[in-house]
Amino acid sequence: MISEAIQTALNKQIRIEGESSQIYLAMASWAELQGLEGVAEFMYNQSDEERMHMLKLFKYVNERGGHAQVSQLNAPSLEFGSFKEMFETLFKHELFVSESINELVHLTFENKDYATHNFLQWYVAEQIEEEAQARMILDKIKLIGDNTAGLYLFDNDIKQISAAAQAAGSTL
Ligand code: FEO
Repeated sequence: MISEAIQTALNKQIRIEGESSQIYLAMASWAELQGLEGVAEFMYNQSDEERMHMLKLFKYVNERGGHAQVSQLNAPSLEFGSFKEMFETLFKHELFVSESINELVHLTFENKDYATHNFLQWYVAEQIEEEAQARMILDKIKLIGDNTAGLYLFDNDIKQISAAAQAAGSTL
């Protein structure tokens, strides 16, 4: 059985993962309209992964005798400036998610909820991977600069990054 405090915190994280899914879906749409097919595919996959993160928490809350809640989500931005700015936004968002997971882990210690603490280790590991991959993508973008041919190659490259992440069951 989870405590009221842990249930509230987990439901907050459920909302954050749901909002993450919507943010990446909006990025997918924006990238698709820019003709960045590879980036769009990557973002569609990313959106699906975030929904999976949300559902994993959702099922855990109910399994532990709590009540997983569906909340109203904040609407994401629809414009992202440039694809570089879009990936910077993604990176910052992932840092925010990592911070939120850290706070959640801390709360489980304070509440002596070691089952939830153990469950959350999957998210801790996931955030390490997500941050690392976002950093790697931003490094690639810096190398491209304003080079149009480089952008074309990047768009192709990111398809492979996306496919590899999916095959490994990992996410950005
Ligand atoms: Fe579920 Fe990308 O954090």
